[in-house]
Amino acid sequence: MFERVFPAVFLFTSIVLASAQAPSVPGKPLPPGPMRAKIKATCTQCHNTGRITEQHLTRRQWSRELEKMEGLGAVIPDSERAAFLDYLSANFGPQKDAPKDPPKATAKN
Ligand code: HEC
Repeated sequence: MFERVFPAVFLFTSIVLASAQAPSVPGKPLPPGPMRAKIKATCTQCHNTGRITEQHLTRRQWSRELEKMEGLGAVIPDSERAAFLDYLSANFGPQKDAPKDPPKATAKN
């Protein structure tokens, strides 16, 4: 019995581990912070952290991003929304040395 089940379990585990290690977008670890565990639990159900860490968004853009994710099925409790935004805009805010958007582009957003 054991000899029959073990290879199957082993194979299954290797597939899970292999796919976890070969994400389509490399998942950079989230920076430490009071919300890290929460964000990881809430935001990596459908994609890995790479989707988040590659962004440079303003707080307002992050707010829209959260709305978009909620539309896709993410559950962000209202009471924690501000903390999500604090963490995301502090760690993945606009790049400091990046040129500012022209006023027109900002107004359009
Ligand atoms: C229910 C599934 C789901 C959950 C949960 C989820 N996302 Fe997403 N996310 C997606 C999908 C699907 C895409 C790709 C959307 C697209 O290509 O338009 C995506 C894309 C993104 C992107 C890339 C930009 C974009 O809009 O395509 C960011 C940033 C992002 N998610 C952030 C988050 C954050 C932050 C959370 C946690 C609050 C989160 N996601 C939770 C499904 C999810």
